[in-house]
Amino acid sequence: MKNTRINLVKRPNIKITADIFEIAAEETAELSDGQFLVKQTHMSLDPAMRGWMEPDTTSYIPPVDLGAVMRSSGVGEVAESNNPDYPLGTLVAGMFGWQQYAVCDATSARAMPAGIPAEAILSVLALPGITAYQGLFNVIKPKSGETIAISGAAGSVGSLVGQMAKIEGLRVIGFAGSDEKCAWLKTIGFDEAINYKSENLVELLQAAAPDGIDCYFENTGGAAQHAVFNQMNAFGRIAVCGMIGDYNTDTPSAGPNWVNIIKKRIKIQGFTMPDHQADWGNMAQKMGAYLMKGQIQYRTHVIDGLESAIEGINLLFSGGNNGKLIVKL
Ligand SMILES: NC(=O)c1ccc[n+]([C@@H]2O[C@H](COP(=O)([O-])OP(=O)(O)OC[C@H]3O[C@@H](n4cnc5c(N)ncnc54)[C@H](OP(=O)(O)O)[C@@H]3O)[C@@H](O)[C@H]2O)c1
Repeated sequence: MKNTRINLVKRPNIKITADIFEIAAEETAELSDGQFLVKQTHMSLDPAMRGWMEPDTTSYIPPVDLGAVMRSSGVGEVAESNNPDYPLGTLVAGMFGWQQYAVCDATSARAMPAGIPAEAILSVLALPGITAYQGLFNVIKPKSGETIAISGAAGSVGSLVGQMAKIEGLRVIGFAGSDEKCAWLKTIGFDEAINYKSENLVELLQAAAPDGIDCYFENTGGAAQHAVFNQMNAFGRIAVCGMIGDYNTDTPSAGPNWVNIIKKRIKIQGFTMPDHQADWGNMAQKMGAYLMKGQIQYRTHVIDGLESAIEGINLLFSGGNNGKLIVKL
């Protein structure tokens, strides 16, 4: 089968530019026993990819090697098979990379229940959902009646965190970068949504959280982080999931003064999902249950064609994505 793939051939110089990729064509490899060929139909674009392009070998996951296909997760169908457990047409998810076809075995692709739309898998059952679940329930450990603030709230992770927190009986405040995103957050049940670009952010947050903030799910860093940190209640918990505001800069932003960590006895914990691989299946099932019961909603931002990933990934850093960013192949 003829495969088109996009390889990473240079490290980014701050921003992701088209010249760091090369488009290559090749014949797919012969399948050995147990292997099967996946035709990828939907590919996820994630903020973490910016970090995977860096040569940093001390991070939670190795960098993408230069010359290798760009790493990504995706959904597809088995198109050829040497594995009786994965017959033709099986719906699968896995780390397929920026390419049309991926040679897989049972360790690199998981069968998905037939009938679930690929967009629902990538938006809810895969990384965004399990990340939201891990950060909310295993790091923050929310209690009914508390107030939670969420940055990057209109994004794929943040929007799920807010909806699950609401189900748990919390007051939910989201930060997003446009009035349209804030309006959408209100439609999915957020109590308050604040545009973090507002000049009077501190006052807006005080009005939205008159009793202070008990929990903070951090996806972005920046202005929201400072405003929230200074309004945290005693024994507050902060889950540090992402800092997208700092991914495309060589000058890390200044964090808040740590004295409040002592005064308010705040617990702050970073987490990354590769550490929790053994629990992915359980967490995906929990996310699937919310979805089946109609308790959570998601929205997607779909762009067309493999090569659209090259420019499209930057939507994540400009805020141009309205929902889970997905490439439809
Ligand atoms: N720890 C883990 O294992 C793990 C796993 C998955 C994701 N994450 C992290 O979770 C965060 C959200 O990921 P996602 O997949 O759900 O992406 P997403 O929120 O769907 O998309 C990224 C959003 O980030 C916002 N953003 C971009 N630059 C910003 C800036 N300078 N300041 C504030 N907001 C900015 C934009 O929304 P606005 O229009 O609202 O600005 C953009 O739409 C990321 O930081 C990601 O790295 C971590």
